This record gives sequence, structure tokens and C-alpha cells, in this order.
Amino acid sequence: MEKKISPSILASDFSKLGEEALSVQNAGADLLHIDVMDGHFVPNITLGAPIVKCLRPRVALPFDVHLMISDPLKYIPDFVNAGADLITVHLESGNTAGCIALLRELGVKAAVALKPATPAEAVYPYLDGLDMVLVMTVEPGFGGQKFMADQLEKIRMIRAECTRRGLDTDIQVDGGITAETLPLCAEAGANVFVAGSFIFKAPDRAAAIATLKN
Ligand code: DX5
Ligand code: ZN
Repeated sequence: MEKKISPSILASDFSKLGEEALSVQNAGADLLHIDVMDGHFVPNITLGAPIVKCLRPRVALPFDVHLMISDPLKYIPDFVNAGADLITVHLESGNTAGCIALLRELGVKAAVALKPATPAEAVYPYLDGLDMVLVMTVEPGFGGQKFMADQLEKIRMIRAECTRRGLDTDIQVDGGITAETLPLCAEAGANVFVAGSFIFKAPDRAAAIATLKN
């Protein structure tokens, strides 16, 4: 499957978000990962739809919006109107079927994320209707955390279940992705890689993305 790199703007300088997004676009990113946190579903607050809307006309990359919020159903239309191309909702936020149906209706790609404690099987009932599954490899809420290798088995199980059903669903990993941890995730079956610190804190972002891709 095609390997895609989605830099997480959480690790960028928010005072110049437009330039930061363009810098990874020019450095070879495939998607732009936008972490939305509400201070309730996770213990941190980041940004909302108005900021995504401001970025949209300046950035060509598809927007990969990761909603770490308590009531995604209520805010999905705002993020679609702001220009999201792919929206990920957490299984733990509830009403997963309703969120997927709304994403389909609004014509954007639909993904479901699993926190580290949520088992692989929890996403199986939704698998046929999804473009992507996100396996969190850290506890959501903050960038710069250590990769959780115990999540590799979950990636393996979900990839095996997709293959069994004849699905070519994308599997994304997010949290602690580096040149060392990416190959482990790829070997387990992931093909879309979020990286915040590894890309934005690198002296040469194009080199960092190239390292992840090869
Ligand atoms: C964490 C976010 C991640 C985060 C990853 O809750 O979902 O996208 O930005 O950051 P790194 O790559 O630094 O672990
Ligand atoms: Zn994320």
C-alpha cells in the first residue's frame, strides 16, 4: 500500500501556522495532520474550525483532521465547512455509527481512532464503512511522547481483519513516530504515518520526511 506521511502541526509554531504548513507541503508531506483537542476528551486545548478555515486557502495538502473532542457529531459540519478532507473521530467519544454516517453524507473521508487501551476488535463493526483506522501509539493529548510498542499487535490484528474482508483500508499511526519506530509500524501493517516532533523539530524537514518515506 502507498506510504503516506502526515506531519502534525501540533509540533509547529502556532504564531506562523500558515508558513509552517507550507514548509511541510514543500518538504514532501502527503497530508497535513491537524490535532483538535477540547480540554475535555483530552486534558489539553489546541485549535478549532476557524483556524482550519484560515489555513485552507493557503495550503494545498489534504487536511487530515484528528478530533480529540467529546461531541464530534456536533462539530463535524464546522470542520467540513472549514475544508477538512479526512476526519477522524475517536471510538471512545461515542456515537461512532452516527459520526461515520454524517461524514459520508457530507462527502469527506471517514476514520476512527483507538486509544491505547481500546482493543482492536472494538473497531471491527465499523470497518467496512471506513477509509482509515487510526491506532494511537501514545495516549492522546500531547506531542513528544514515547512510542508504545505494545500497540503493534493491534495494528497487526486490524490489518489482518481488513485483509480477511478484502478491504484496502488505510491504517494510520500517531504518536512517537520516528525513523526507528516507523518501520515497526509499517511491518505490522500501517501505511499512514503521523509525525509531529520528528518533522517539525528537525533542522531539515525535507530530509526528515524523506527519511520516514524510505
Ligand atoms: C497526540 C496527537 C499527535 C501528536 C504527535 O495526541 O494526536 O498527532 O501531535 O506528536 P509526536 O509525533 O511528537 O508524538
Ligand atoms: Zn493526532
